[in-house]
Amino acid sequence: MSTPAMSRPAGLNPGADLPKPPGLHWNVRAKQPIAYSVSMVRGLLDLDNPALAHACGGGQGRPLRSLLVIDSVVEALYREKFEAYFEHWRIEAIWQTVQGDEEAKYLEQAVRVTEAMTRMGILRRAEKVIAVGGGVALDIVGFAASMYRRGVPYVRIPTTLVGQIDAGIGVKTGINYGHHKNRLGSYFAPELALIDPEFLRTIHPRHVANGMAEIIKMALVKDSALFELLEVAVGTVTPETLAGCGSTLSDVLSRAISGMLDELEPNLWEQVLERSVDYGHTFSPSLELRADPPLLHGEAVAVDMAICLALAHLRGHLAKSDIDRALRLLVGFQLPISHPIFTQGLLEEALADAVKHRDGYQRVPLTRGIGSVVFVNDLTPEELGQALEFVDAWKTAAESALVGATI
Ligand SMILES: NC(=O)c1ccc[n+]([C@@H]2O[C@H](COP(=O)([O-])OP(=O)(O)OC[C@H]3O[C@@H](n4cnc5c(N)ncnc54)[C@H](O)[C@@H]3O)[C@@H](O)[C@H]2O)c1
Ligand SMILES: [Zn+2]
Repeated sequence: MSTPAMSRPAGLNPGADLPKPPGLHWNVRAKQPIAYSVSMVRGLLDLDNPALAHACGGGQGRPLRSLLVIDSVVEALYREKFEAYFEHWRIEAIWQTVQGDEEAKYLEQAVRVTEAMTRMGILRRAEKVIAVGGGVALDIVGFAASMYRRGVPYVRIPTTLVGQIDAGIGVKTGINYGHHKNRLGSYFAPELALIDPEFLRTIHPRHVANGMAEIIKMALVKDSALFELLEVAVGTVTPETLAGCGSTLSDVLSRAISGMLDELEPNLWEQVLERSVDYGHTFSPSLELRADPPLLHGEAVAVDMAICLALAHLRGHLAKSDIDRALRLLVGFQLPISHPIFTQGLLEEALADAVKHRDGYQRVPLTRGIGSVVFVNDLTPEELGQALEFVDAWKTAAESALVGATI
């Protein structure tokens, strides 16, 4: 390192002794390895299960405290179990609740979590923040943890299906700001994500379908075996069967999780903007924000996927028999495949927005057969209109076939 000049003759223009262009410059380069694990753990709150105690830093021989930031609905359902567990493992839990649901995903909640850290006087490395809840709670707590002292360690315990196969296992955090979803956020890996399907016993059935949409997405873009498992499981997936996690559903969850991690790992910071996990996420953000009554994220993704299936079919990437299977699967999981506000105009507008998000190109993932993906950059407004018509016609034909079958 050097400085441009040590002394300067009096009266000279202060800039005169700076070097001429191109001047001096310094490059700084650093690398930060990211490592975290995702574990599926049955009976996470069973007293003899050490997984959570270890995640809190248990076993180090000093008195232990953790900040437990928990979705308020989950607190109401599971508080006693958490208390018994922490008492058994002699961990002092400092409780802080956050509210789930999309309308509550605001900055104030993240700030409140940081205030709880200050009140507790959390030790910067030894004491962990334990985030428990659905995707909303996890995104809020992850964001707070990434801001507090520029980063304190945290552990994720996702309690919804979306949380367990998507929101809880990556590195993104965030909150909504203004009318924009996840407008403020960070990439901040947890130390660990602990997944216990038992929490799914109490989720609302609509949230089962919501999570299944993301699992169907993974099947369509990269895992035809998962797609076949889903065809077998359709009609049997409920909060109870998910919690029971028999062999088919355990396969479904683990394939969905490993498929997601395979996609995320080489591209954690999204430097590559052609992401197959963006399948179903091109048109859905506009729909999700505008539908009234509101659609859940996975429901909007399902409507988007139906359009993308039709686009792929119309381009010759997907056989008629495969689009029939895929649309039947979405409908079988009680997911919508169309929406009255999803017009050609809205699709065009949504695509224009996606182009900004994807740095100037459409980069729309479409299925090529079931289980693989192709990216396109040349979708036309006419094609969007034709895809809408295709889905509408398919839906009408399916409904009349159903009526015919029941007469
Ligand atoms: N960070 C990421 O990579 C990522 C990925 C996907 C989605 N997300 C985000 O996740 C959010 C959606 O998450 P979500 O679908 O889990 O919604 P959510 O967190 O709002 O949870 C849905 C509802 O279920 C309740 N709940 C949570 N666990 C429960 C349980 N075990 N029993 C009963 N009720 C329970 C919550 O209180 C809430 O009312 C969105 O904001 C989305 O942006 C983030
Ligand atoms: Zn999604």
